[in-house]
Amino acid sequence: MSKKIKIEAEFEELAWEELTIEEQQLMMRARKVSESAYAPYSDFHVGAAVRLESGEILQSSNQENVSFPVGVCAERLVLGYAGANFPDLAVKEIAIVARRKGEEIWAGVSPCGLCRQTINEMEMRFNRPISILIQNPDGSVFRFQGIQTLLPFKFDDLNA
Ligand code: THU
Repeated sequence: MSKKIKIEAEFEELAWEELTIEEQQLMMRARKVSESAYAPYSDFHVGAAVRLESGEILQSSNQENVSFPVGVCAERLVLGYAGANFPDLAVKEIAIVARRKGEEIWAGVSPCGLCRQTINEMEMRFNRPISILIQNPDGSVFRFQGIQTLLPFKFDDLNA
């Protein structure tokens, strides 16, 4: 007899005013850095900002390449930079926004599978869940407490 197993995903949808000041600040940094996206192939401009446990904020945009798979997402770039330059500091939060070139409104965005696995790695590295904030086109923000809801049944143990 097969057994059905359900996975539940819980996350919040918040109005801008419901974010903390620190979260609003992080979202603003992600919005700003999306302007530096190098995305001539997709015209999809992404910004990601992380807050370290020290309070410092780092940010990056996506950087594409004519050989498409070579391009790197905003999330992986900023997390790689955090790991390389602040190897002893945990990442507390990440904010993600996107906008199509020439458009006013924010585009719907959600981190790709590679970036989810990268967020997971950063959580494992410091044994601490990362709060994930995602800008929605209607102005609301999704808040995920840790990668688990975005990446259920993830690969996180070589010896399991
Ligand atoms: N992209 C990101 O940088 N982050 C996301 O969360 C979604 C996708 C980039 C990859 C590529 O440069 C462009 O957006 C279109 O997929």
